Amino acid sequence: MAEKQDVVIIGAGAAGMMCAIEAGKRGRRVLVLDHAKTPGEKIRISGGGRCNFTNIHAGPRNFLSDNPHFCKSALARYRPQDFLALVERHGIAWHEKTLGQLFCDHSAKDIIRMLLAEMEKAGAELRLETAISAVESAESSFRLATNSGTIEATSLVVASGGKSIPKMGATGLAYKIAEQFGLPVVETRPALVPLTLDQAQLEKLAALAGVAADAEARFGKAAFREAVLLTHRGLSGPAILQISSYWREGAEIVLRLMPDIDIASILRGMRRTNGRHAVQTALADILPRRLAQFFAEEAKLTGRLLADLSDKAIDALSTSIQAWTLKPAGSEGYRTAEVTLGGVDTRALDSRTMQARSIPGLYFIGECVDVTGWLGGYNFQWAWASGFAAGQDV
Ligand code: FDA
Repeated sequence: MAEKQDVVIIGAGAAGMMCAIEAGKRGRRVLVLDHAKTPGEKIRISGGGRCNFTNIHAGPRNFLSDNPHFCKSALARYRPQDFLALVERHGIAWHEKTLGQLFCDHSAKDIIRMLLAEMEKAGAELRLETAISAVESAESSFRLATNSGTIEATSLVVASGGKSIPKMGATGLAYKIAEQFGLPVVETRPALVPLTLDQAQLEKLAALAGVAADAEARFGKAAFREAVLLTHRGLSGPAILQISSYWREGAEIVLRLMPDIDIASILRGMRRTNGRHAVQTALADILPRRLAQFFAEEAKLTGRLLADLSDKAIDALSTSIQAWTLKPAGSEGYRTAEVTLGGVDTRALDSRTMQARSIPGLYFIGECVDVTGWLGGYNFQWAWASGFAAGQDV
């Protein structure tokens, strides 16, 4: 005899737990399955252990999707303020770090404890270390074969996340289930991920490993102003992670270092007042010293005096720093990517409920859907909002 449930949710991550809470509150009999030993592992490691749990400015423009309108309904019905109110009801101390990013003061584990407490209050059951070997649709229900027996449910919610960080249990199961039921999947790729450089570029930039600078990273129309970090593998730091979601293989990105200042004007001013300074010394007043040396060397101006530079040479030097063009060789891939771009095609889903249009009772929420947020708490906001939306309907 199969075990019977109203709702089975695959994945005890951010989206799955939120959906379980909301469905449980409506009196549904809810079971959450996860193959991991502990729930919410990505929440635990997020935000450097402090979980950037939302962004107070989150809106549709902060998300990438083949259909940018899809996320609007869910985001409007469950807002950052709603999650913040939940956090405050549980007495979790928080702070805004920068750019609307809200973090726990103490630990991301506070968020996991809060979600588990809410699940318990709502009567939702959590079953860990459960492997799912098959999913089938039976008459007006779904049947799951698991290592704890066969389970039948009227509604099946797939909240098993994306492909990023396979070491932490990411499997891509959601895409397999979508395909099994004939739903399209938008091509997936690692996003919010460091970009790599080829060997020749790495050798040229070897002395810069570990240097960070304020920059605007640009790819096409997308531009992000935050720190850039040069590493021994390539480029990292928040501005690079952000632009990685837009970048495509074979293309160049442009970095504007020190975007608030006009380097050419400053150098012209210094040429008048400190003309006897060497170029790399003058640049070191503007840029981290190793970058100053690098750009002076690149321009073959090391040791030359500022007074000897023409306007044209100053303009060229400034352009090399403020329109620094680099061609990444690739990305570090799913091993380190924070999220997966692409996923279950939103055209196959109802934007109000997350239900598959052609398969009544089947829902997809969270990262497995083709809605990907910027860095900065947006991805959790999508997980909460899409989980909430499905939780009202299952
Ligand atoms: P999530 O991946 O959280 O959960 C999926 C669950 O399904 C997991 O518990 C997994 O074990 C389970 N599962 C997978 N396959 C299964 C299978 N075959 N059978 C059974 N169970 C299965 N975002 C943000 O907004 N702020 C932040 O601070 C960060 N920081 C951050 C740091 C790092 C290092 C990473 C990798 C990611 C972030 N993110 C983030 C992104 C954020 O973690 C991510 O968007 C959400 O966790 C997605 O939530 P989901 O519930 O959709 O999937």
